[in-house]
Formats: sequence, structure tokens, C-alpha cells
Amino acid sequence: MNSAVFDRLREIAHRQAGIALSPAKKTLVQGRIGRRCRELALTDPADYLAVLEGEQGASELMHFLDAIATNHTSFMREVDHFRRLEREVLERLRAGATKLRIWSAACSTGEEPYSIGCLVLDLLERCGRPTLDFKILATDISTQALGAAAKGCYDRQRVEPLGRYYLTRFFENSSNGGASQLRVKQCLRDTVLFRRLNLAQPPFPLNGPIDFIFCRNVMIYFDRATRLGLGREIYRLLSPKGLLMIGHAESLSDLGLPFCVDRPSIYRRAPERGAR
Ligand SMILES: C[S@@+](CC[C@H](N)C(=O)[O-])C[C@H]1O[C@@H](n2cnc3c(N)ncnc32)[C@H](O)[C@@H]1O
Repeated sequence: MNSAVFDRLREIAHRQAGIALSPAKKTLVQGRIGRRCRELALTDPADYLAVLEGEQGASELMHFLDAIATNHTSFMREVDHFRRLEREVLERLRAGATKLRIWSAACSTGEEPYSIGCLVLDLLERCGRPTLDFKILATDISTQALGAAAKGCYDRQRVEPLGRYYLTRFFENSSNGGASQLRVKQCLRDTVLFRRLNLAQPPFPLNGPIDFIFCRNVMIYFDRATRLGLGREIYRLLSPKGLLMIGHAESLSDLGLPFCVDRPSIYRRAPERGAR
């Protein structure tokens, strides 16, 4: 791939999804675009760029973003966030909460929202509050990832970090994949709403207040301006007593937004001026 083509692709990735691809990512992008070129029977990345910028551009853009997005994730990834969530939800239940809203922004193939769902559903049942109004909104830019998430079928090995207890309660053998694949049970599926949402294009068509926002391992791909726009939206949507979880390798400290650090990678909204 020549540099001019790569630079145009970088520009599109940045403009459309806020994804900042460094020059060092050229080989990676080439490999990922290569796969899509073969599907379209194209041999030259320049021809692929022409498709992306041509009449079919709008529909090809989805495939392009699917190709360049890094979807790496796992069940119970960065497990301390889930332990904290458990403690916080328990506290809210004891305080008489009647409603719980959680947003998994950049949910990839579903492991994050389903991990949240297992934990909270189980907790609600154990606390005698199984009918509490509880919903998880799970969003991502990648339609491919969202498709896999909504299907909710995983190799047994991938689900194992959840532990035998959750696995038995919330998963069943998949009729398609045989015994090696497990499928999320309907009760867990019903708590999660999957939607496509581009975090680089605020304002988002969402309303708060949201009690917990998981926005993990996605800001790492964004430049400061994109992170700032996203951070402002998160601030707008997060409940005054809510918690924001970000990836362990990420930080909001350079954005100057009114968040305060609760623990590294866990934030709260800073108290309003004048409020105690
Ligand atoms: C590395 S995964 C993180 C998944 C999960 N949050 C976790 O921590 O395991 C990053 C996800 O961000 C999504 N993504 C990248 N750019 C995005 C954007 N502009 N808007 C929404 N999602 C985006 C990718 O499609 C991918 O699924």
C-alpha cells in the first residue's frame, strides 16, 4: 500500500470514527484491508480507496470500520471493575433503589455487557429484588461485533473466566455449535439492548441519568479532541452518584473535565460548585 493511500485511509478512520491510526499501523491496516479487498475481488488498495470514496462509500464505510476496529475483549476483563460494581449495586439495593441503568459503551462482541448482566441479575435475585427495573445499554460502532454480541454464542473456553456458577446459571449449550459452544440464556439476553453508536460523533441520542458507565479500552484509540467530546457526553449522562469505569491503560486527567478520581480507572462526577 503506498503512503498516499494509507494517509487517505487514516484520514477517513479519523474523520468517521475518531480513530487515530499512527504511521506504525500501516502493516496492520494493510492486512485488515487486504481481507476486505479479497472479499470484493480487488487486488490494489488504491481500488479499495476508490470504492470507499465512490458511490458505494456509505455502505462500504461500515465494512471499513469493522476491518480497522480492534475488538479484543474478554469476560470479566479488568475484574476489579466488576467487584466494585457488585459492591456499589449492593449498596444501592440496601438504600432502596428501584431502578438501575448501565451503559457499556464500546461493548465489542458482548463479553463486557454480559459479564455485567450475570453479576447484577444474580445479585438482584439473591437480594430478593428480581423484578427491579434493570437495563444495560450496549453500544459499539462495529456492526459485525454487534451482530456477534446479539447472537451471544461463545466458545466454552472464552466463557470460563466467568466461573462455573455464572456459567451454569446464565449459559446453555448452543444447538448450532455443539457442546464446545455456549449460548447466553434468554433471561440474560433480555437485560441487554444492543445499538450502534459512534462515540466520536457527539451529541449522542441518549438520556441519563446512567448509574454506571463502562467506557473501557476505546479512548486509547482516540485523539484528545475526540476524547474530550466523549468525556463531555459521559459527564452529561452519568448520574451525580454514578461511576465511570475506563480501561486500566486510560486516563481522563488531560481533559480538564469535572470528574474526580475514585480509584485509578474509576471516576465520579465532581460535586457541583457550591454543593456539599
Ligand atoms: C478493544 S475493544 C474494547 C471492548 C470492551 N470495552 C473491553 O474493554 O473489553 C474496542 C471497541 O471499541 C469500538 N470502537 C472503536 N471506535 C469506536 C467509535 N468511534 N465508536 C464506538 N465504538 C468504537 C470497537 O469497534 C471495539 O469493539
